[in-house]
Formats: sequence, structure tokens, C-alpha cells
Amino acid sequence: MKPVQIAKDIYDVGVTDWNIRDFHGYSTYMGTSYNAYLILDEKKVLIDTVKKEFSDQLIHNITRIIDPRQIDCVISNHTELDHSGGIARIMHEIGENKPLYCSKMGKKNLSLHWPHKYNYQPVENGQELSLGRRTLSFLEARMLHWPDSMFTYVKEDKILFSSDAFGQHYAGQENFDDQVGDAIMPHAQKYFANILLPYSSHVLKLLETVSNLKLELDMICPDHGIIWRRHPEKILDAYVRWSRQIPQKKAVIIYDSMWESTGKMAEMIGAGLDSEDIEIKPMRLRKWHRSDIMTEVLDAGAILVGSPTLNNGFFPTIGDFLTYLKGLKPKNKIGAAFGSYGWSGEAVPLIQAMMETMKFKPLSAGLKIQYVPDNEGMKACFEFGQKIGRAMKEK
Ligand code: FEO
Repeated sequence: MKPVQIAKDIYDVGVTDWNIRDFHGYSTYMGTSYNAYLILDEKKVLIDTVKKEFSDQLIHNITRIIDPRQIDCVISNHTELDHSGGIARIMHEIGENKPLYCSKMGKKNLSLHWPHKYNYQPVENGQELSLGRRTLSFLEARMLHWPDSMFTYVKEDKILFSSDAFGQHYAGQENFDDQVGDAIMPHAQKYFANILLPYSSHVLKLLETVSNLKLELDMICPDHGIIWRRHPEKILDAYVRWSRQIPQKKAVIIYDSMWESTGKMAEMIGAGLDSEDIEIKPMRLRKWHRSDIMTEVLDAGAILVGSPTLNNGFFPTIGDFLTYLKGLKPKNKIGAAFGSYGWSGEAVPLIQAMMETMKFKPLSAGLKIQYVPDNEGMKACFEFGQKIGRAMKEK
């Protein structure tokens, strides 16, 4: 339990949010944590805070190590309120005139969240701050995932405080990667797919910068979930892989159904894909959360979306998902639409049109079946799946 010492004179004083299940539309079945880091040197510094409602707990955790009034300055790596929500309380405790280091955009964004005129000290990319025995170096991480995002690196300890990057929504008694093992990777993948995916090119650029600067990373400390101390290279490699979005022989079949016709189509299309040795992930909306579906979309080669036609449009859950999908800007996908209809049949062409705006590679005009698929319709679905499977193997 926190606080936990992560290196000599460096502590995670953040909090565990065991009960959160919905993080602004992202399902957090395992809860999360808001990590905040205290470095004790000649200068004592707090990196990031926590959600506002956990401020007392943050103060309590700090108090178990030092009197909060001994903190000389605060670093805000990121403005979003799960990390800056405790700023007002912390600054009140330590002294409101003490320096608050942040990026230039951080100063702007923090000012738009907090009316008090704190002693903001905007830093440049690469700027250093001596704490005495240690030197901090600030690294711009613009759009990972907000314009204000930055990382803080401790040269002497080779520790990177990486804000949201490399994080996972995971609440547990474990604090480090070696305590959880590979079971942490799906949580990291889900985090990437739902938070960082639209900024994949920024991720690759930043990792290149880190490599060019020859920053040694003994430990990566994100603001959510476990700290990477044993195998930081594992999450770095995964971020390169996920950012490149290299399509796998995997098809995600996302659908909803009113009277099971579109459901039957989904099943038979899946059988066609399976016959071509494609891994399938049939995921029915109203059964699967959009953020779990995105985790599967991340490395899929094909995205199939099936919807009945309802009131001349697609089913509402499909609209919700397509809006979410579009915003996350996945790349390198084959796209296909299917669905049952009664008399007008707009859902399939509407989905196709959405997929075109997302630059998915369309395979055909999609597959529509009136009312209930008969034997011929089921055969058409199977062949539709086969056709997509073959196209995936040709890529
Ligand atoms: Fe964990 Fe972007 O806040």
C-alpha cells in the first residue's frame, strides 16, 4: 500500500482508486491509481497530484514521510484533473508562493482550471532543475495525450516520470511490473488503444527522441497503475508495436441486433473468416464495452461492423461505437459493413460511408439481407467472411 519507496529517497505517495468503474467513458473494471511522486533531496519536490476527492489521502501519504510544508516545489507533468485535482490543496498546505513547474501549455491550461495565480514556472524542452544531489530534466511530450503533457527525468537515478504514457488503469496491492508479470500487458494495451492511439505518430517521434538523447531508463513511472522497474523495455517495445499498428490476421466483428438476424449474419461471417484461418473476435454491443472493443481493434487487420436498420439509420449503439472509433483514428484496417433490414436498409451504406471517412479499405458495398437470412443468405454471409479473410492474407 502507498506510500511506497521506489528508489532511495523517492516515493510514490499517490492513491489507489479501487472503486472507479467508468473513467470518462472508459471501463475501468480493475479500478485505477493516481500516482504522485515525492523526491527528497536538498530540494524536496512533488511530481503530480491526484483527483481532487483524494487530496486528503495524498496529504496523509506525504505526512507519513515528511511534513508537507517541507516540499519546496511541485511539478505538474499534465493538467488533466486526475493529476492536477489536488493542486489547490497541496499548494495551500506547502505555501502558495512556492514554484509550480509545468510546460508553457501547462501554465495556460492550469490557469484555465485554477483561478488562483500560482507561482508558475514554465519550463522549456530539455531544461534542467537541480535539486542538489540530483538533476531533473524536462522533456516535452506534447499531445501525449494533451498539449500540456511533459515528462520529468531524473538523470542520476535514470527514472522517467512519464505522466499518462505507459500507464494502465489497474488498482492492486502490487506496485511494480515484476509483481504482476505479463498479466499487466492487456491493461497497458487497453490504455494505449483508448487514450494514446490517435497520437501514435507522436509516440514514435518521442521514443526516437528518447533514443537519440541516449536516456537510460532503469525505471518508468507512469501516473496510473504499476511502475516498470524490472522490464521497462517491455512496455517501450509494446508502444512501438502498437503505434505502428501493423495489422494482424485478426478480424473484429462488432455488431448489434434487434431480432437476431444481424446476429446470425455475424456468426456466419465469422465462420467464413475462421475457415480462412483468421482469428475472430465477435463482439456484440450491449454485451461488450466500447473501450474493450477498442483494445481488440488496435492490432486487428479487419473491422466488420453489423447493424440492423432502425428508423432509416443504424442502431444507436452502432452510432455510439462508430463515433468513438472515428475519434481514436485507427489505421491500416480493412473495413466491411453488414446487416439485416426490413424495407429501407440505410444502415449498411451509412456504416460504409463512416468507414470511408476513417480511410478503412472497403471490400465491397457491404452485405445487406432483408429480414431473416435464409440458407442462401447464410451462404452469402459465409462467403463474405471468406472474401475478407482472403483479402487479409493478401495484404
Ligand atoms: Fe490520467 Fe490525461 O490524465
